[in-house]
Amino acid sequence: MTAFKTLGQFIIEKQADFPYAKGEFSRLLRDIGIAAKIVNREVNKAGLADILGSAGKVNIQGEGQQKLDVYADEQFIAALRSGGECCVVASEEHEDPICIQSEVSKNAKYVVCIDPLDGSSNIDVNVSVGTVFSIYRRTSAGGEATLADILQKGALQVAAGYIIYGSSTMLVYTTGRGVNGFTLDPSIGEFCLSHPDITIPAKGRIYSVNEGNYRKFPDGVKKYIKYCEEEDMDTGRPYTARYIGSLVADIHRNLLLGGVFLYPNSSSHANGKLRLMYEANPVAFIVEQAGGKASDGVRRILDLEPTELHQRTALYCGSTDMVERIETYLQG
Ligand code: AHG
Ligand code: MN
Ligand code: MN
Ligand code: MN
Repeated sequence: MTAFKTLGQFIIEKQADFPYAKGEFSRLLRDIGIAAKIVNREVNKAGLADILGSAGKVNIQGEGQQKLDVYADEQFIAALRSGGECCVVASEEHEDPICIQSEVSKNAKYVVCIDPLDGSSNIDVNVSVGTVFSIYRRTSAGGEATLADILQKGALQVAAGYIIYGSSTMLVYTTGRGVNGFTLDPSIGEFCLSHPDITIPAKGRIYSVNEGNYRKFPDGVKKYIKYCEEEDMDTGRPYTARYIGSLVADIHRNLLLGGVFLYPNSSSHANGKLRLMYEANPVAFIVEQAGGKASDGVRRILDLEPTELHQRTALYCGSTDMVERIETYLQG
């Protein structure tokens, strides 16, 4: 019987790294883990439960909401509300922040930004989807938390993570001391440490981009895609194109195998498509902590000063040498 370490045991063990932590952060992560297990249960039976298809509403992003978008959003907010460690939530599915302060959370000091269900276009076709989250400390001293508590640059994140609902369900997170991955063991209902100290290979051979948008890309991106497709023994090219259309799944694969993910700004998405606060920032924190790089082509993602809750950014992230080549081509 191989010894296993649950997420809860790991968090308590690592709590020693946070001398001032009185368990609030550990409980916050526990709350996220609980919601993830509930969402996982619905994702796993999606075809059988009435959870597929459109919810018949359009969200602030102008996207048709899927039933699972709404369900996941409700579950994570409910878990954070009852857990009492979070004072305000910014969700992809809500235009404004949701203040969840109550008697149990009047002293809550954490802020959560969340993409409750990432990869919605893949829900009905049984392709991996995910959840992405980012955790900050509130900046205000007391009273009702506001947007100002949320709009903090990514470098100030206390933690970031994602859950991938795939062939297995994993939770991957960082608190700024490396990246660790936990696989859900359904037989005991626990996330167990399966990928300690995840490190992204410095060089990769996978590039992930929606080449259907090629003609709309900046010239530097077009030049990089051509570079990936050229034959060159020394650099192992042509590289391999892998693109799922779920950010979490594309990032997770490249994190483990090495590679680069590109979501450029384009003539149809002047500022890119991905959202800074609950997609690019958490992913950038994780990729950097795994030894990779994340930029908007010019600036480090984690240094971008947010001005709006749902603002978008171009995102190039993954193995450092691949991201740096893209930056060189874009700035050339
Ligand atoms: P979401 O489902 O949370 O709205 O995010 C979808 C995002 C991201 O998951 C993925 O990388 C990207 O959309 C794919 O966009 P395209 O379909 O335009 O390639
Ligand atoms: Mn969406
Ligand atoms: Mn998303
Ligand atoms: Mn989403």
